Amino acid sequence: MFEEAQYFAPVAEQDDGSVVVELASSHPGFADPVYRARRNAIAQLAVNHRKGTPIPAAEYTEQEHGIWALVTRELAVKHAKYATAEYLEGAERLGLPDDRIPQLEEVSGLLSPLTGFRYLPAAGLVPLRDFYGVLADGYFHSTQYIRHHSVPFYTPEPDIIHEVIGHANALAHDRYAALYRLAGAAARRVESEPALEFVSKVFWFTLEFGVMSEGPELKAYGAGILSSYGEIEEFRGMDIRPLDLRVMGTTQYDITKYQDVLFRAESLQHLEDVVGGFWETCDDDSIAGLLGGNQG
Ligand SMILES: [Fe+2]
Repeated sequence: MFEEAQYFAPVAEQDDGSVVVELASSHPGFADPVYRARRNAIAQLAVNHRKGTPIPAAEYTEQEHGIWALVTRELAVKHAKYATAEYLEGAERLGLPDDRIPQLEEVSGLLSPLTGFRYLPAAGLVPLRDFYGVLADGYFHSTQYIRHHSVPFYTPEPDIIHEVIGHANALAHDRYAALYRLAGAAARRVESEPALEFVSKVFWFTLEFGVMSEGPELKAYGAGILSSYGEIEEFRGMDIRPLDLRVMGTTQYDITKYQDVLFRAESLQHLEDVVGGFWETCDDDSIAGLLGGNQG
């Protein structure tokens, strides 16, 4: 399972500086010109934004605010059952609005007093080195658009529901926030592309799609699981493997296919020891060793 919220629509900059979001013909909003115009306008905000300046407010329709309210309400029920205690604590501390889409500037305003994290707007896919690198400084790149109203419980792309409900609630907890920062520090430290890719895959299988034992139960802390109404019920039935850096860092994932292998930490402490410890100290040589290159 897990094919939701993983594919970024390409964003093309025109000669006149305007931007066009290239939705695939299979995208639920493809044939809706009003939605597409709004997507272009929101992408333009991100392209024009400069770090350190306030994020301009995106315009949403009442219908879109209603989608946020609906999905927030339904996900909260699922989270009570499936999310880790620390994620739920983060959500409680953060106190996101449940009746309307928050502006990213507002998310930063709620989050930064808690763990120092601030949001940055992203038009679409951010290059790996930028996306991960700025985590070390407490910045999180986020899309600003919301899914198409025709399918409130599905999005092919990471939308603001994924970015904020999935990630900000985790970033509001000190221990998860520390892990995000360590991933950023690791991405800054490594120089080779294979090492960067290894660091990003470990992130993918933990902070995006990680699950964790909590007493006798299996809970989720990964943003990709916790933001996906259609898929959150499925993770317990998937191929669950023990946390293993070498395996996580070398498992091929295809964002256009079902995500069916997940890795389980035995506790948050276990995650911090294995994955946090790895990000804290890894470099090109240690990763080459894990990849089987420079051993012996
Ligand atoms: Fe994500």
